[in-house]
Amino acid sequence: MFDRITRLDTVASTNDVAAALPEGAVVLAERQTAGRGRRGRTWFSPPGSGLYVSVVLAPARATEPRRATLLLTLAAGVAIADAIDEAATLRVDLKWPNDLYAGGKKLGGILAEAATAGGPVERVVLGFGVNVARAAYPPDVADRATSLETETGGAVDRERVLQASLAAIARRYDDLLTGRFDVILDAWRARAPNAIGARVTWMSGTGPVDGVTDGIDADGALRLRIGDRVERVVAGEIVWT
Ligand code: BTN
Repeated sequence: MFDRITRLDTVASTNDVAAALPEGAVVLAERQTAGRGRRGRTWFSPPGSGLYVSVVLAPARATEPRRATLLLTLAAGVAIADAIDEAATLRVDLKWPNDLYAGGKKLGGILAEAATAGGPVERVVLGFGVNVARAAYPPDVADRATSLETETGGAVDRERVLQASLAAIARRYDDLLTGRFDVILDAWRARAPNAIGARVTWMSGTGPVDGVTDGIDADGALRLRIGDRVERVVAGEIVWT
């Protein structure tokens, strides 16, 4: 389904370019000057060393649009992790809600943004970044980030990872459109060992809260055991301690 790939050299953010395009469009850049991460962070996007990709999806046309939209980021995480396993022979773990990890460090991330302001979400821009080659990361991320080449110790074919990722996202998107949510949730759980029983700090709206992870629910929310109650976390940051 992703046969319209716009390949650009330099953009501010591929998500911005994709926001104007129809379902199925793919935007890829060699570098981004204002790559975005979640929660207003910058996504470091040096030339030639990563995959900076956005695809346009329309979960509103799913049989169950609400759940399809809620589970989009988790589905994409499973897809990209599977693709990296296949194309670069590397075991990738997922951290709720949108992080790709390898060797205990962050390898990539996903940023889903509504392409329509207000009203029903017709289109969603699903952006993902994967660190492929070693790069001079800024000091604040250097000791927390890794790349495919660092982890595998060899050269990695970026185009192969791209094509495998797009094919896997297309398959998982089809699962979402047709309501095969349990397949996605099970695949996600299998890649996220620390979604159960890990001590975390949740930066909630009212301040930091310590808890222990207790899995994800059917809508993809993180269950957090705090003392004797369980909280559903859908927003705020989770710090893995
Ligand atoms: C995160 O881990 O916080 C999400 C990172 C998402 C980065 C990708 S790179 C392609 C797309 N364009 C952006 O500006 N961000 C996403």
